[in-house]
Amino acid sequence: MPNNLLIQGPDKGVLLLTLNRPEALNALNTALLGELAAALDAAEADPATRAVVITGSERAFAAGADINEMAARDLVGILEDPRVAHWQRLARFPKPIIAAINGFALGGGCELAMHADILIAGENARFGQPEINLGIMPGAGGTQRLTRAVGSALAMHLALTGEQISAQRALQAGLISEICPTELTVERAISIAETIASKAPLAVRLTKEAIHKASDLDLAAGLRFERHAFTILAGTADRAEGLKAFQEKRQPKFTGC
Ligand code: CAA
Repeated sequence: MPNNLLIQGPDKGVLLLTLNRPEALNALNTALLGELAAALDAAEADPATRAVVITGSERAFAAGADINEMAARDLVGILEDPRVAHWQRLARFPKPIIAAINGFALGGGCELAMHADILIAGENARFGQPEINLGIMPGAGGTQRLTRAVGSALAMHLALTGEQISAQRALQAGLISEICPTELTVERAISIAETIASKAPLAVRLTKEAIHKASDLDLAAGLRFERHAFTILAGTADRAEGLKAFQEKRQPKFTGC
């Protein structure tokens, strides 16, 4: 059984997934992406998992798609690429994903990070879409998610030159929400995930979905979606518990109902 992905937890509602191909700077081969997709299948079905942290090593979050594997794939291989389904699995995962990014997050590695809902990075993180250096282009959302995150000026710059940016620049551009000392990135991501895991799961799920809609819908449609989601939550026991707990000056006990 390949061990390209280390799975820990869930502990306090948080599942920790660690990319584990140190010999290739966590390059995302099909096996690793498949293990990641399978872990997310299990995490979606498991009510004990309320949030997921994805991380790599201190040297590399992931240095992109596995270039050696890619070199062996022809046009038909790309058309029938099973990796597309693995990426879609990530994109439609309904629970929050926090990416704890240290070192290189390049190409598919940057695209993987951008599949997360919250991105936090160590001081040593480097982001980029260097596919252009290989005579190709981003193929797992780099032109779309990066542009939505940082705007077309910086997205064009990165994808057309292959240059990398620092964690500081990524923070300034809105690609990530926080920078930590490198050795504390995973700890901080777990702490954020635990905070989310303590909230009402249905409210968390609909909040994530509504914020994603902001990139896909015009404002009027997005506001309608938000209002419907807000209204759906009125039927949940967790809403009643959350409001009552506030009035009774105690911590709420959410059950996910
Ligand atoms: N695929 C396969 N192997 C990779 C890899 C990748 N993306 N990135 C690094 N490696 C391997 C290297 O070949 C090397 O292996 P060996 O020790 O066996 O030679 C090992 O990881 C360490 O890498 P380096 O010696 O190159 O380390 P470095 O510190 O000198 O450089 C780096 C680090 C700048 C990240 C450099 O490795 C690099 O440029 N990597 C490629 C980055 C890239 O182009 N990514 C985009 C890939 S295409 C893509 O991602 C498309 C998509 O998703 C759709």
